[in-house]
Amino acid sequence: MTLRARLFLAFLALALVPTALLTAFTLDRLGRSLQLWNTPGVDQSLDAALEVSKTAMARLEATAHAQAADWAMALSPGGLLTPARRTAVRAGLRASGLDFLQLYHRDSTRWRLAEEVLPEDVLAPHPLDLASDLDDALASGRTIHSARGALAAAARIEGDHGRHPWALTAGMRVPPDFFTRVDQVGRGVGFYRRFGVLRDVSRTYWGLLVVALVLTLTAVALVAATRLARSMTRPLRELEGALERVAAGELETRVATTGPRELAALGERFNTMTARLLAARTALAEAERQAAWREVARRLAHEFKNILTPMSLSLHRLRRREPQVPDEHRAAVADSLAAMEQALGDLTRLAEQFSQYARLPEPRFERLDLAEVARDAARLHEPERVTVVVTPAGGPLPVSADRLLLSRAVHNLLLNACEASPDGATVEVRALREGHDATVEILDRGSGVAPEIRDRLFEPYASTKARGSGLGLSLVRDIAEQHGGRVTLTDRLGGGAIARLSLPRLDAAAVRPPGTA
Ligand SMILES: Nc1ncnc2c1ncn2[C@@H]1O[C@H](COP(=O)(O)OP(=O)(O)O)[C@@H](O)[C@H]1O
Ligand SMILES: [Mg+2]
Repeated sequence: MTLRARLFLAFLALALVPTALLTAFTLDRLGRSLQLWNTPGVDQSLDAALEVSKTAMARLEATAHAQAADWAMALSPGGLLTPARRTAVRAGLRASGLDFLQLYHRDSTRWRLAEEVLPEDVLAPHPLDLASDLDDALASGRTIHSARGALAAAARIEGDHGRHPWALTAGMRVPPDFFTRVDQVGRGVGFYRRFGVLRDVSRTYWGLLVVALVLTLTAVALVAATRLARSMTRPLRELEGALERVAAGELETRVATTGPRELAALGERFNTMTARLLAARTALAEAERQAAWREVARRLAHEFKNILTPMSLSLHRLRRREPQVPDEHRAAVADSLAAMEQALGDLTRLAEQFSQYARLPEPRFERLDLAEVARDAARLHEPERVTVVVTPAGGPLPVSADRLLLSRAVHNLLLNACEASPDGATVEVRALREGHDATVEILDRGSGVAPEIRDRLFEPYASTKARGSGLGLSLVRDIAEQHGGRVTLTDRLGGGAIARLSLPRLDAAAVRPPGTA
């Protein structure tokens, strides 16, 4: 499994496990609390209570109606309450469990309570006037439910009462809030039923809500996990790609060093590593090139010497026989011999240069005064056709160097300067201290550096001279590098060139030149 997939799964798990736990807990709690709303038996009890109250009411109403009808029949026609009838009614009330019988008489405007009969031994409370309910009850045949505390049936008393009829009510006293209570039971049951439906609906609703929430959270977690995993693995993927490119030889490959500190540090190390690899490869290539050039030089020198040695011997033999040449030809022969000796000398020097370049010896370092080395080298060139002027350094310039190699380097630079200068010109040699370095400057008033060779001055075999080997500056550079120094050749202001050879100075602090332990 890839790192990215692992990170992705880890982040996802991290986000989803708590969500899942929370969901399970919430759903469980929700289920329990909904369950609590619906305690088993509550609806049965409510139903039973409703049933009981309805039945009781129905029976009371039936009794009231039956008695009211009986008494209405008994009291008509015209026969209102005679003492005997009143006694009978009292007994009837007691027997039927009713609390009162009321007679109403209607005058021109409304019903008026005419008399109330109560069971025997009952103290008469303040009579309850039901006149206002009477019309309704008579018309509809319904029982009077008076909020003032009575349940009563009404009946018309038939008879020839003319325009002023009689009616009666029979019923019982109830607590004033009796009907409200009964209604409340009915309403409670209805509410409880509706509540059951509501509960089922809300269970579904909450379930759906939780599912939607979980789905949303999952989607968010998926997106976040993908992003996070991708952003965390991106630098690693970049590094992987860069490593592949490096493995394929692209040592110039670099990675970004931004992002989290550890990854940035990794990127920096990677970049340092590739930079070092590149430097090593360049150095190796350079070393290989130099080795190849040296091999060429070695062979050339060998071939040259193979030819030059017998030539030099032959020339020597010819020279010895010169006196035997007839007088008239002797001068011409001597001229030719001199020319040949001159050419041979040139070629021998060339071969010597090749050979020197091919066998650059390991330096033997010793403490030397660069100013003195420069002065000695200049002295060798004094008898030439140019004047060499040495500007004193004003004190020794101690360097750690191989005497032979160092003077060979200065000598080569001087040679080039003299070769570049016209007859009778002056070449100046200056030794000076520069920061941590000791420097020899060789200044001439020659032609200056030829543009076509400017970029290849220090390459072997790069020369603008007809008989040039092109090995002089290459040798100087190698020697300078062996000594931890450097060499440059630039145009001089006002014409000519300046060659500068710098080596680390021994009396300069903090610099450790080669060959010093
Ligand atoms: N002092 C100088 N002034 C102008 N050109 C120079 C000078 N020194 C070197 N050069 C140029 O650098 C080339 C390479 O020099 P070098 O390596 O010594 O080889 P060679 O002297 O055999 O040509 C020369 O051919 C010349 O063109
Ligand atoms: Mg040269």
